[in-house]
Amino acid sequence: MAKSILDLYRRYFEERQFERLDLFKTIADEFKVKRVLYPGSFVHVTPSFVFPSVVYIDNDKQANKFFKSPEIHQLIEDRKVYPQDASFMFHFADYGDGFDEKEKSFDLLISQYAGFVGQYCKPFLKKGGLLLANNSHGDAGVAAMDKDYQLAAVFSLRSGKYKMSKSNLDDYFVPKSSIKLTKEYLMQLQKGIGYTKSSSAYLFRRIY
Ligand SMILES: C[S@@+](CC[C@H](N)C(=O)[O-])C[C@H]1O[C@@H](n2cnc3c(N)ncnc32)[C@H](O)[C@@H]1O
Repeated sequence: MAKSILDLYRRYFEERQFERLDLFKTIADEFKVKRVLYPGSFVHVTPSFVFPSVVYIDNDKQANKFFKSPEIHQLIEDRKVYPQDASFMFHFADYGDGFDEKEKSFDLLISQYAGFVGQYCKPFLKKGGLLLANNSHGDAGVAAMDKDYQLAAVFSLRSGKYKMSKSNLDDYFVPKSSIKLTKEYLMQLQKGIGYTKSSSAYLFRRIY
């Protein structure tokens, strides 16, 4: 059988059971999200199964080829859970260099294993909008030190399911070591540090 470009999605996300569909569903159910920005997405189109309007950005050639393929439309059509037509587009760009989108026009910014998305792409997030970040590269830790963001919820992963909690949020981002932390230090480190309590994903609200 001829190889399909969709094999990339299947291999990286379906077969590894790493789609994170319920994470996005929980956010869609709980918060009012219209426009979503996903820098460093690679071919992770799962947000389009849940959110009708998503802009993806990546500087990877394979991702560029993937998003050019008409097959992606069928994948999203088959999997989407909302009645309206899906609207999605892709910028083949370095998210740090800027891209052609309106500032303060997105309700949700997704940062998953792709560097400091929450910092570089913050201008595109509306005030009151949400940043979904993990701490793989330290982006959540930097957001926790950023006065523009306030932690709104955490997601723990148990038996393959994400569970959201809004309780005891002050317990998170307390460093295990007594080192004096700065945003600059964490960004130079490019990986998350140890905290006394941590979670699989964090949701911040842009408050300024
Ligand atoms: C490890 S993958 C993560 C993919 C996806 N976010 C996920 O969670 O499965 C990191 C992706 O971020 C992209 N990336 C990293 N830095 C980037 C940048 N400055 N501009 C655009 N894409 C970037 C890489 O090309 C790669 O596709």
